[in-house]
Amino acid sequence: MIVALTGQKGGVGKSTLAICIAAELLARRHKVLLVDADPQGTARTWAEVAAELGQPLPSVVSMGATMHRPEQLPTVGQGYDDVVIDCPPRHGDIQRSALMVADVALLPCGPSSADAWALAASIDLINEARSLRPELEVRIVITRKQGRTALGRSAREELTKSGIDLMKTEIGYRVAFAESLGAGLGVTAYAPRDAAASETRALVSELLLWERRLAAPEAPGPKAARR
Ligand SMILES: Nc1ncnc2c1ncn2[C@@H]1O[C@H](COP(=O)(O)OP(=O)(O)OP(=O)(O)O)[C@@H](O)[C@H]1O
Ligand SMILES: [Mg+2]
Repeated sequence: MIVALTGQKGGVGKSTLAICIAAELLARRHKVLLVDADPQGTARTWAEVAAELGQPLPSVVSMGATMHRPEQLPTVGQGYDDVVIDCPPRHGDIQRSALMVADVALLPCGPSSADAWALAASIDLINEARSLRPELEVRIVITRKQGRTALGRSAREELTKSGIDLMKTEIGYRVAFAESLGAGLGVTAYAPRDAAASETRALVSELLLWERRLAAPEAPGPKAARR
């Protein structure tokens, strides 16, 4: 399965989720490739810290706006069970390239209505990609949610209007995410009993349900199941 963490807005948790998802897949004994498509190099830096501290880590490579070309990710990704792509904010060309090869695009989004409104530019890119590749699965994942606030509820309503489905799993605002990356780990290894870890495990399990459906195309996929 190729999962792209994408979206035009900066600082919403794309890299944090990409790294934590990749690390959790690795902990489940999957062979994982983490693609750092962001010139800021967050995933690469995390991998350097992990390597220095002797922590287990997935293969990490840098790719850019040509990753969809046959000799790039489609070739390099072949030896892996899963590929996780961390996209940069704003660089539409790089996001487009990731959306050309991804099975699943995850759009992290903060919990306020303002965050939901800011998704408009990302949704344009997604719709463009889906018009070329109707098989592309897209889900918004609510991140950095604080408690059971009315804000969280109104954001879900607002986001549903975007025409893109939401992941069932929501990710809270939790310090363990930032701490884990600094320790060269994913959050599920860094703080296994923290709510951040349970949310990440739930998110990965939700993604793996798709992986099984993608591997068995005769089974009803999420879209068919909804009909
Ligand atoms: N669920 C969370 N709870 C608390 N802090 C978080 C959470 N997710 C991300 N952060 C923090 O928010 C900041 C931005 O996160 P991150 O770098 O993952 O976002 P990004 O979308 O990749 O940013 P950019 O668009 O610049 O690449 C970081 O300081 C990170 O530690
Ligand atoms: Mg990032």
